[in-house]
Amino acid sequence: MKVKVAPSILSADFSCLEREIRKVEPEADMLHLDVMDGHFVPNITFGPLVVEAVRRITPIPLMVHLMITDPSKYAEAFARAGADLLLFHLEAVPEPSGLLSQIRSLGPKPGLVLNPETSEEAAFPWLGEVDLLLVMTVHPGFGAQRLIPETLGKVARIRERILKEGLSLPIAVDGGINPETAPLAVSAGAEILVAGNAIFGTDDPLEAVRKLRGK
Ligand code: DX5
Ligand code: ZN
Repeated sequence: MKVKVAPSILSADFSCLEREIRKVEPEADMLHLDVMDGHFVPNITFGPLVVEAVRRITPIPLMVHLMITDPSKYAEAFARAGADLLLFHLEAVPEPSGLLSQIRSLGPKPGLVLNPETSEEAAFPWLGEVDLLLVMTVHPGFGAQRLIPETLGKVARIRERILKEGLSLPIAVDGGINPETAPLAVSAGAEILVAGNAIFGTDDPLEAVRKLRGK
C-alpha cells in the first residue's frame, strides 16, 4: 500500500495561495480543499470560486471536502469548479445514495466523511457506493487540533470491513496528522493522509510532505 499525502490548504497563506501550492506541488498526491458554511461547522472558508481558481493553476487532483449542511444544493457547482473527488458528510445526508450517484454522473469521484462521534456501522451500507471514505480524526471546523486517538480504532474496523467485502476503496484521515500520528494512522489502515498545519505550518512544506509519507 502506497501512502498518499494530501496537503490541506486551510493552513496555507491565502494572500499567496499560488506560491503556497507550488511549494508542495512536486510531492503532493492531491490537494485537500475545506469548504465550510458556518452552519454545519462553526467556521466559514470558501466556495466554488476558490476551487475553480486553484483548478486553473495546478493539475494536481483536487479533493474537495464539503462541511456544509446541504451538499446536494452545491454539488454541481463544485463539480463544475473542477473537483476530482467530492466528499460530503454522512451526518449531513444520512441517506447518501442519491447524492453519491449524482456526483458520479457530474464527473467527480464521490466520497463520504464521518465525524468522530459517528460509528463505523453507519458507513457500512454505503462502502460499495463510494470511491473514498474519509474519517475525521478531529472535530471538523479548524486546523491544528490534536488527533483524537479513538478515531484510529474506527479506521481499523472500517479497513477490516472493506477487506471482508472484497472492496478496494481507500480510507483517508483528516485532522491532527503529523510525523508522530501519521504512522499510527497508516498502520490502522489509512492510505491517504490529509494534513494542513504539519505541512504549511512548517518552514519546508515540501520536506514535510515527504516526512509524512515516511521517506
Ligand atoms: C478540519 C479540516 C482539515 C484541516 C486539517 O476541519 O477538515 O482538513 O485542514 O488540519 P490539520 O492537519 O492542521 O489538523
Ligand atoms: Zn478537511
